[in-house]
Amino acid sequence: METEKKRARYLRIHQQVKELLAQCENPDARMATVVAVLHHKMEYFFWTGFYCLHQGELIVKTYQGPVACQILEKDKGVCWAGINQGKIIIVPDVHLFPGHIACDSRSNSEIVVPLRDRENKIIGVLDVDSTAVNSFDSTDGEFLESIVSLIYGRS
Ligand code: SME
Repeated sequence: METEKKRARYLRIHQQVKELLAQCENPDARMATVVAVLHHKMEYFFWTGFYCLHQGELIVKTYQGPVACQILEKDKGVCWAGINQGKIIIVPDVHLFPGHIACDSRSNSEIVVPLRDRENKIIGVLDVDSTAVNSFDSTDGEFLESIVSLIYGRS
């Protein structure tokens, strides 16, 4: 998607999510709302969801798209890289990412954005897959980070 079109789309999504999240403080409900809005407004989002830490494991939470892995092998793949490095990970071609975990062979590029709680501790990641290579760039990173930060009320 062309950058200006993408920015305009994300600005509208950010506003819509902000209004929706004002109706409920529950983080699980907020995560579900973020996933639903993003998945249905961004046509290149093939799989959209959260993986959260639970007793040292990374477990799937709310998502939209094809059935995904429920537990991700520790310290392997893109989601764990986002957790361990504490930063956004953009993967233009998943086949070139060492240790990438393929939950669905149709995914070809991916972005992972850390989810932080109110104490700024990383508790999970937003993960988005696309069937096209090179779908995600710094514009996706910037806006997804800002949208994800709305879940625990920091923006
Ligand atoms: N590809 C991810 C696994 C999750 S799926 O993409 C839904 C990874 O390597 O961590």
